[in-house]
Amino acid sequence: MGVLLFSSISMAGCGKKEQKSTEIKIGVCGYDQYDTYLSQLIQCFDKCTTDGVNVEYVYASQSQITQNEQVEKLITKGVDVLCVNLVDRTAPNTIIDLAKKNDIPIIFFNRELVEEDITQWPKLYYVGADAIESGRLQGELAANMLRRESVNADKNGDGRIQYVVLEGEAGHQDAIVRTEYSVNTLIEQGVDVDKVGYAIANWNRAQAQTKMAQLIERTENGIELVLANNDDMALGAVDAYNSAKISADERPLIFGIDGTDVGLEAVVNKTIMGTIYNDKEGQAKAMYDLAIALAKGESVSSLNLEDGRYIRLPYAKVDAANVLQYIHK
Ligand code: GAL
Repeated sequence: MGVLLFSSISMAGCGKKEQKSTEIKIGVCGYDQYDTYLSQLIQCFDKCTTDGVNVEYVYASQSQITQNEQVEKLITKGVDVLCVNLVDRTAPNTIIDLAKKNDIPIIFFNRELVEEDITQWPKLYYVGADAIESGRLQGELAANMLRRESVNADKNGDGRIQYVVLEGEAGHQDAIVRTEYSVNTLIEQGVDVDKVGYAIANWNRAQAQTKMAQLIERTENGIELVLANNDDMALGAVDAYNSAKISADERPLIFGIDGTDVGLEAVVNKTIMGTIYNDKEGQAKAMYDLAIALAKGESVSSLNLEDGRYIRLPYAKVDAANVLQYIHK
């Protein structure tokens, strides 16, 4: 079952505001408490919390049934607004029905539901980022680095780059779209590539390590580029090369996405070559500002919602040259 944590924290950093008169209650539902990026996004949200705002955080341990029950409980407890990170982004109906019945607005975040679902009711919103952009930027970053003469990526000298993709959860918008756009961008940028394998590792470092170890063995250490859908899986790939005791100059270029603390640290240490910053601070602040406006019944027009419902924060390329500016963001 999910961890229940009631907090009324007042911290600096995310546009500290006064909300004294009436108390606002927000419920935040995460799909899993062990996801690195999501945990950091939720920490950023918590830093936004001001006086007079209570936030209850629950985690569903990857069960949509658990999450539906958690939402029901939060509504019974009297939340004014819910922020929901769906477990199964194709199964939001129970939650949407509960919200409609009780007139509680919902901000879905990070795991994007399909348009037919979000348009079911006017008080449904989405905060996240544009998955296509993250894939494109990863492809550009990799192509750019492969072009640099100092980076001798084509280890077997065949004029082509043998690559593998480490994919997030099957069916997740970010996994499907990042893979497609990252690889297509590389090709558009004129890099000749051969796909020598792929593995689904569900955003998870340990799973990525296991799958990567198999790919290294199967290709007889013939991989020249690893495109990982997130930083944790990129780091799982690094772990696999460490375990196999393969020296730095016999390793591929490895790229992630997210810019988590561990991901940025790996860019500094050059164990991965780059990442794409998934703006957790911006997304958390957008969610918080929207949640407060909705809870107070205020107009949300100043928040520049796309189609009246969506807020998407831009991604950014991070490599050794600019990583320090993201570390203390
Ligand atoms: C993605 C993120 C992944 C994982 C996933 C969970 O946006 O890049 O690391 O957190 O969301 O839904």
